[in-house]
Amino acid sequence: MKIGIAFDLRSDFQPDPGAPLDRLEEYDSRETVDAIAAALAAAGHEPRLLGGGRRFLEAVLRDPPELVFNIAEGWGTRSREAHVPAVCEMLGIPFTHSDPLTLALTLDKPLTKRVVASHGIATAPFFVAERAEDLRGAPLPAFPLFVKPAAEGSSMGVRRSSRVTDAAALEAEVARCLRDYRQPALIEGFLPGVEFTVGVVGNGASREVLGVMEIEPLTSKRDEFVYGLETKRDYLAQVAYHVPPRSISAAERAAVERVALDAFSALGCRDLARFDIRLDAAGVPNFIEVNPLPGLSPVSGDVVILSKKNGWTYERLVNRVVDEAAVRQNLPRTMRQCAGAGV
Ligand SMILES: Nc1ncnc2c1ncn2[C@@H]1O[C@H](COP(=O)(O)OP(=O)(O)OP(=O)(O)O)[C@@H](O)[C@H]1O
Ligand SMILES: [Mg+2]
Repeated sequence: MKIGIAFDLRSDFQPDPGAPLDRLEEYDSRETVDAIAAALAAAGHEPRLLGGGRRFLEAVLRDPPELVFNIAEGWGTRSREAHVPAVCEMLGIPFTHSDPLTLALTLDKPLTKRVVASHGIATAPFFVAERAEDLRGAPLPAFPLFVKPAAEGSSMGVRRSSRVTDAAALEAEVARCLRDYRQPALIEGFLPGVEFTVGVVGNGASREVLGVMEIEPLTSKRDEFVYGLETKRDYLAQVAYHVPPRSISAAERAAVERVALDAFSALGCRDLARFDIRLDAAGVPNFIEVNPLPGLSPVSGDVVILSKKNGWTYERLVNRVVDEAAVRQNLPRTMRQCAGAGV
């Protein structure tokens, strides 16, 4: 298959003066794109690098591929991850991963939490502050709390200081979100238990758990642990990864997997997604957030690390995503019409 890879490189952007140090954290490196291209070529596909933004648009208008392998994060707004898939939908080009609706929804963490909560999935109680004044008399969960930008990923804005234990620290963290990330602050009850990241691959009823990885803090106490920017940039020294998880029973692991599978369905995810889940004080697994375009760095991508620990090669992971997308989109047009999809 002729597969075009849609991506945004860190080197494609210039952060504004005064932007926080993680402003470009979500974007990919050329090594990741080259690794995906090599994995596709190894399976007999013909990969082509499309890039993102206007470059992507011009490339697909000129010469549309048979499939877009999408890891483009987009630029600018909370809907940015939906830009490439929306264009693909408009032009009728099949693409991997979730559709624009899911990608736009899930970058907004409060909206996503409302949807998963409405499906009966546990998620920490929360409040959204759009302005510093919103804290006055706000119905906040009890301390400790956790403060992060409402619509970011890749640890942008998440620091050790995001866990706050008093009103002064809370105000300071909310002010940091509003000032540095120019968006509302999501304030959640802090989940003090074991943390996991869970990969889910597939579609519909045949979606399956790729692996559950426990993230063990090596340099901080479990109930103060934050898997944020400082930790992720120094992950070899600060955390240990365990697949399968080693601090929970088989029944507890099944409950963690259930959260990931249920959230995958509730949010309409497709092909591949990674879920961050953490136990609350009572040991109940809570949904933290989902990454429907999980990082595919062959070295440091969490979903890559966890699938490797489960015996999957990088080639197998990348091409499984392609196969899932191909099966999903190869329905004959008439069948889609019969199913009432309005095509
Ligand atoms: N409510 C919470 N309680 C406890 N820890 C939390 C909470 N929310 C976030 N964290 C910690 O902060 C980390 C990063 O938060 P989150 O996953 O929301 O950010 P992200 O930037 O979207 O992550 P990613 O790098 O996976 O895209 C979590 O992995 C977890 O360690
Ligand atoms: Mg996360």
